[in-house]
Amino acid sequence: MTLHLRKFLTVVVQATLVLACTTMGSVWAQQQPATPPAGPTLYARIGGYDFVARFVDTAFPRVASHPQLHRLFQGHSQDSLMRQRQLIVDALCQAFGGPCLYIGRPMKPLHTGLKITSADWTTFVGILSSTLDELKVPSTERQEFLNTLERRFKVDVIDTL
Ligand code: HEM
Repeated sequence: MTLHLRKFLTVVVQATLVLACTTMGSVWAQQQPATPPAGPTLYARIGGYDFVARFVDTAFPRVASHPQLHRLFQGHSQDSLMRQRQLIVDALCQAFGGPCLYIGRPMKPLHTGLKITSADWTTFVGILSSTLDELKVPSTERQEFLNTLERRFKVDVIDTL
């Protein structure tokens, strides 16, 4: 290979690397919020992973055994319920700004067909709300917690078909 050809190839490789890095950098930048929220996340303020797990372990059995809702949770093995429990912990942890990644099925198809009504949602929120009170979550965080669920999940959970 001549010296000229080798120099030419080196320049081409360098230019390709620069272009690839710039493109990846701009894709990454687009995925970040324009202005990161100031101060600690809701996740950090309510007590992190330990709190989210404790909350789900307290509220989930109450949701599953509530007279209005228990029809939805019949016929699930203990193993399936434990799997659901873990996925719910992951989804909430992520929604509150924690370092978790929800890798379960997308929320909409997962709940579609279960015929969950807005009255079911209201009962569900009532159970969550009293659990937050019981676990002594301060009112600002309590409200932010419930608003996040409303904003992030309600539309995907209620059956609109
Ligand atoms: C904050 C709102 C909610 C979140 C984040 C959520 C999240 C989840 C997750 C992660 C799963 C397990 C996914 C899987 O097995 O692949 C699940 C399953 C399920 N959820 Fe929800 N859910 C919410 C609200 C509700 C409500 C209000 C109800 C009914 C009252 C409900 C009923 C169910 C049922 C019955 C399953 C089992 C579905 C199946 O195995 O096919 N969910 N949910």
